[in-house]
Amino acid sequence: MNITATTRPLGLLGYPVAHSKSPQMLNRVCEILNIPAVYLAYAVAPEQLPQAVAGMRAMGFIGFNVTIPHKVAIIDLLDELDETALEIGAVNTVVQRDGKLIGYNTDGIGYLRSLQEETNVDLTGKTVTLLGAGGAARAVATTLAKAGIAKLVIANRTVSKAEELAAMTSKWTTTEAIGMENIADTICHTQLLVNTTSLGMSPNIDASPIATELLHSKLLVSDLIYRPRETKLLQAASAVGAQTHGGLGMLLHQAAVAVEHWFDQAAPLKEMWEILERE
Ligand code: ATR
Repeated sequence: MNITATTRPLGLLGYPVAHSKSPQMLNRVCEILNIPAVYLAYAVAPEQLPQAVAGMRAMGFIGFNVTIPHKVAIIDLLDELDETALEIGAVNTVVQRDGKLIGYNTDGIGYLRSLQEETNVDLTGKTVTLLGAGGAARAVATTLAKAGIAKLVIANRTVSKAEELAAMTSKWTTTEAIGMENIADTICHTQLLVNTTSLGMSPNIDASPIATELLHSKLLVSDLIYRPRETKLLQAASAVGAQTHGGLGMLLHQAAVAVEHWFDQAAPLKEMWEILERE
């Protein structure tokens, strides 16, 4: 990498960030697209977020990504919000344009692009059941609700959070909130089952968000978890003949959409995928 006095900064704000593959992936993107920029990961504690953002603004950052735990707190520090970020209520990508910081959310669209590219699913008229109602669920629920589905069922351990998300997305589709223990009643009518909870994530790879005997062969089972690549839920889904979709594609496409916002050009998906696939 040829760093000079005109190289501009990009970065990731999170806490922690040491596990992130974004620096490798985004620096490779800059190299391929011939953009004089460098991308670094910054571990910023919540109480220091305002100072970090002020610094990025002052130092002419092209933009930055935002991850846990800052995706909601960042909003108050920005000048403008894109409509999707406003609807989701969280930001994962910021662009600095003419001195203004503009917030976007590329998680939902990244998820949808990955799902459609890898499974060819036609969502029109489908019943979707979402497991979980946290931050990731918000982006995915909002995007799916707007994608022409017939019904969105949100199942969560804490039912009040499912109710909140069901109310938030009810302007785009029919929604229903249920407790995780009532999943058996809806799963037989479900065509797409999406896990947004952390159950099954490394190192707890033996966990699964639902009892595996509830799965059936007409389901498309999608898991946002990408470590491990094939979760216990996806293994059980494959075993009953259901179609499966893992979480790594969402990671790729949410970054690709961020690249489009920063540089106004398409991202080199193949090379980005090669970096994500490396252990
Ligand atoms: P993220 O940003 O990754 O979505 P989050 O906002 O903390 O993380 O949300 C985590 C989700 O996983 C929530 O839906 C949570 O359920 P609660 O709202 O009841 O907390 C769910 N989750 C996490 N651990 C769980 C467990 N052991 N059993 C059931 N659900 C769990």
